[in-house]
Amino acid sequence: MLNLSLSGLALASLASANMGAYPKFGEKQFSQTFHDGYNILKYMSSLAPYSDRKAYGVDRNTPDGCEVDQAFMIMRHGERYPDYSGFGDLYVETLNQMRANVTTFKGDLAFMNEWTYYVSDSNLYSQESTSGPYAGLLDAFSRGSEYRARYGHLWNGQSVVPIFTSGYERVIETARYFGQGFFGYNYSTSAAINIIPEAATQGADSLTPTCAAGVLEEYSCYEDRFYSTFPPLEVAAARLNKQNPGLELTAKDVNYLMQMAGFELNVRAYTPWANAFTLDEWVAFSYIFDLSYYYCFGPGSNYQMANGQVYANATRVLMEEGPKKSGSMFWSFAHDANITPVIAALGLDTPAQHLPNDTVQFPSTYQVSDIVPMGGHLTLERMTCNATVASKAGVYVRAVINEAVVPWTSCQSGPGYSCPLAKFSAIVDKAPKFDETCETNSSYPQYLDFFWNYNTTTNLNYQTGDISSQLTDTDV
Ligand SMILES: *[C@@H]1O[C@H](CO)[C@@H](O)[C@H](O)[C@H]1NC(C)=O
Ligand SMILES: *[C@@H]1O[C@H](CO)[C@@H](O)[C@H](O)[C@H]1NC(C)=O
Ligand SMILES: *[C@@H]1O[C@H](CO)[C@@H](O)[C@H](O)[C@H]1NC(C)=O
Ligand SMILES: *[C@@H]1O[C@H](CO)[C@@H](O)[C@H](O)[C@H]1NC(C)=O
Ligand SMILES: *[C@@H]1O[C@H](CO)[C@@H](O)[C@H](O)[C@H]1NC(C)=O
Ligand SMILES: *[C@@H]1O[C@H](CO)[C@@H](O)[C@H](O)[C@H]1NC(C)=O
Ligand SMILES: *[C@@H]1O[C@H](CO)[C@@H](O)[C@H](O)[C@H]1NC(C)=O
Repeated sequence: MLNLSLSGLALASLASANMGAYPKFGEKQFSQTFHDGYNILKYMSSLAPYSDRKAYGVDRNTPDGCEVDQAFMIMRHGERYPDYSGFGDLYVETLNQMRANVTTFKGDLAFMNEWTYYVSDSNLYSQESTSGPYAGLLDAFSRGSEYRARYGHLWNGQSVVPIFTSGYERVIETARYFGQGFFGYNYSTSAAINIIPEAATQGADSLTPTCAAGVLEEYSCYEDRFYSTFPPLEVAAARLNKQNPGLELTAKDVNYLMQMAGFELNVRAYTPWANAFTLDEWVAFSYIFDLSYYYCFGPGSNYQMANGQVYANATRVLMEEGPKKSGSMFWSFAHDANITPVIAALGLDTPAQHLPNDTVQFPSTYQVSDIVPMGGHLTLERMTCNATVASKAGVYVRAVINEAVVPWTSCQSGPGYSCPLAKFSAIVDKAPKFDETCETNSSYPQYLDFFWNYNTTTNLNYQTGDISSQLTDTDV
């Protein structure tokens, strides 16, 4: 049995290897401490380095009597620098104003007297990070090598395996590093990077589809419209201003500084900004992000669910066709806002009621840090299983989000709380359909095709020449 995860379960089964050896006096078999709820990575939302999702106790390993015969993953690019426009430019402007207004920082900002901003070269904006323990390309490579150990049996050592990436520099680099982790020495000949342009003219034949009918909604949703109603950010501004006469931070500035802190960890081992704000303030900050994903890129938007239906449906069709006809591995790479719609279309993580805009939801039913941190990924497994006492022999589906098995509330009758394929298909069928909902120009593709018609050439496997500056968010 593979024990790749460091979950409590993996530790428990390691412990059981020493069965018979009772703990020494004062030692105990199980820790009584869980720090997940106080881990600040869970409150820096989608800007923070990757962290595994909080699991529900279902074993990540394949249930006895089952074999994974098809694996699908859609992964967000790894840890990265902020974009410039609307992010880095605002962080720098806020910092410059603070430094213009205050000569010597005191109190919770005293570290600013020594601290320097972490984007040393403006050409790094938007790119994957390569430094520090949370480096993005390191994350991509590690995921690839971990998945080789987990899913390597799906490769026959002969066939050329396509890897699909949307046409955006940091996403492409993530796909390449994942491929090198997975295929190792065989990457240059056995993997074939397929770059699917992000252009709207791709219609639904895309990892980044654009639901034309929803573009206006998405545009108006993009504003930081959710932050103003949350008192903790104003409290933080007042506290820091009081400690530093001359400083006039607003709640909006605090929002920028907190974003900047999350990004710092993608580049450096340590951010002093984490301690400049209280955990209560971080809870408010992360809930603001939960709201914006929920309403702008998640289950709160019918148009977004139609975008997500494209990948959900294509995956379903591949599972129905099976590995012999259609292939056994589909590794895809895109952005956070392309993955949250898929999860919504699959009916996972959808709260019973819309999230409240004016109070933090406790307990939280839609926590973005558990869905799309940097390097976040949804993995779907098609499993062929023998009969058990409780379930018939057949084909079942499991969803794994950031290495935690996430069963469907309405479908969990299979081994390891999996869902029979036919019922999974019925769930996907309930999602709003791209072709019916989106009114996308009928001259553009209405369905995803590249999973069936891909290239096995390897000429895109490596970057040739320097990567150009991404200061203007260039599609490739
Ligand atoms: C299913 O049962 C068959 C027949 O007993 C056995 O050969 C096979 O290994 C089993 N599959 C799994 C995944 O355990
Ligand atoms: C994989 O790489 C090794 C080392 O270069 C090589 O010996 C082997 O033939 C390769 N396998 C395939 C299937 O290309
Ligand atoms: C700095 O001071 C100026 C002038 O009072 C003010 O307009 C600005 O909002 C202040 N900014 C910060 C971040 O303190
Ligand atoms: C929260 O705000 C969004 C966007 O303004 C709105 O569509 C939604 O209905 C609001 N939710 C609730 C529960 O009022
Ligand atoms: C649809 O796309 C075609 C090009 O393929 C273009 O000529 C036409 O103007 C587009 N229609 C709309 C409504 O955008
Ligand atoms: C599902 O995807 C397949 C392949 O792209 C397509 O032929 C089919 O029309 C799609 N079905 C729906 C309901 O979108
Ligand atoms: C395959 O390559 C051809 C020729 O370069 C290109 O037109 C096509 O878009 C590629 N298909 C995919 C899925 O990348």
